[in-house]
Amino acid sequence: MNILVTGGAGFIGSNFIDLTRQERGDIDITVLDAGNYAADIEGFATRFPEVELIRADLADAEVTDRAVCESDLVVHFAAESHNDNSLHSPWPFVQSNIIGTYNVIEACRRHDVRLHHISSDEVYGDLEIDDPARFTESTAYNPSSPYSATKAGSDMLVRAWVRSFGLRATISNCSNNYGPYQHVEKFIPRQITNVLTGARCKLYGTGLNVRDWIHVDEHNAAVWTIIDKGEIGRTYLIGADGEKNNISVVRTILELMGREPDDFDHVTDRPGHDLRYAVDATALREELGWAPRFADFRTGLADTIEWYRDNRSWWEPQKTAVEATYAAREEVIS
Ligand code: TYD
Repeated sequence: MNILVTGGAGFIGSNFIDLTRQERGDIDITVLDAGNYAADIEGFATRFPEVELIRADLADAEVTDRAVCESDLVVHFAAESHNDNSLHSPWPFVQSNIIGTYNVIEACRRHDVRLHHISSDEVYGDLEIDDPARFTESTAYNPSSPYSATKAGSDMLVRAWVRSFGLRATISNCSNNYGPYQHVEKFIPRQITNVLTGARCKLYGTGLNVRDWIHVDEHNAAVWTIIDKGEIGRTYLIGADGEKNNISVVRTILELMGREPDDFDHVTDRPGHDLRYAVDATALREELGWAPRFADFRTGLADTIEWYRDNRSWWEPQKTAVEATYAAREEVIS
């Protein structure tokens, strides 16, 4: 089988390739990646010497078409994914997430190629902190940020192409990922690398916002379950019952790294900051038989801390610029 992984030089996509090489050695992988700031193009050849990397933007319909045409399956990870960036500069999100997805599904339609589209639980908007409800596949879409609105738009395109053109596609909407190779602009790697560089952790607002954390390997294993057993046209939610508020995540990081529990600052809140995400993955568990099989949150976090400790040369070059961008946007409140 030949698979095309869009966004394969990014965080979740590159971990997907790692898992696929470990568990499905007979699959040929090609990557289509624009190589933007969040992709690790330089490290790619060392990490995956036998994987062909086509460096092109999905906005390039011709290159996308050619790459899709030679594949049996497309796993579409490529996306602009950081909410904070989408609030300051929304256009790249429209371009990558909507136009890019349009070119992928048009190519899949033309060549009748099976697609799995990777999306986010953020398309559902947010939940109240003390509400027992969780997102399910039938929750109405209600995205809050330019990022989540463009992911919602991309999901809707895929659904329409399934219904109108018979595109053979499945969709997954996953909760917040963490693990190795995540860009230091994101919450967990930012806090870990703050501690490693002697800075304080930074919590937006009260720190009481809740995210549902899942290790990237659990996510990717679930993606394979959906590819193998999912029903065409269906959406599946992926989550591992990992709800935690941000302050408790920071306190666990500080504890695991031997720092004082209050070694953090509250900083300017994110505009429109979603309160809580929580995923009910019952359909995935009961219908497709998926269950988490890697680390629980604390062990996964400890392993992730270890990875950032051991791979300073991977993240250090990005750290100064990321912190300068944040410093221009945020003020310490307390
Ligand atoms: P993030 O990793 O940006 O993911 P998302 O916005 O997709 O959930 O942020 C996770 C949570 O952490 C979110 O509630 C915002 C918060 N946050 C902080 O408190 N401090 C930070 O420095 C960052 C980057 C995020």
